[in-house]
Amino acid sequence: MIVFSSLQIRRGTRVLLDNATATINPGKKVGLIGKNGCGKSTLLALLKKEISAESGDAIFPANWTVSWVDQETPGLEIPAIEYVIDGDR
Ligand SMILES: Nc1ncnc2c1ncn2[C@@H]1O[C@H](COP(=O)(O)OP(=O)(O)OP(=O)(O)O)[C@@H](O)[C@H]1O
Ligand SMILES: [Mg+2]
Repeated sequence: MIVFSSLQIRRGTRVLLDNATATINPGKKVGLIGKNGCGKSTLLALLKKEISAESGDAIFPANWTVSWVDQETPGLEIPAIEYVIDGDR
């Protein structure tokens, strides 16, 4: 499972998440929604270990592989859905 516990994330001086706690169980498909700039990509950056939390933890099993498609994809002839599926090992 993925566990976020008492998480605080900042970008610069802006606090994007404060004391956030959530659990995602194996096999669940989860969508993350929120207004532009609220911190969705930043939370994913934490899971990708590109950034660190100010406090709290975001943990998942060490043997799990994280795969992703960037928010901005190149301009291609193929539909976005095909681009995503092509990248799925
Ligand atoms: N590398 C960065 N350095 C500094 N601030 C950043 C950086 N990346 C994002 N931010 C800021 O952090 C905040 C959250 O950005 P983020 O990209 O996580 O939002 P988002 O929810 O994914 O937005 P969108 O719906 O537009 O994709 C915004 O205020 C953004 O300007
Ligand atoms: Mg984003």
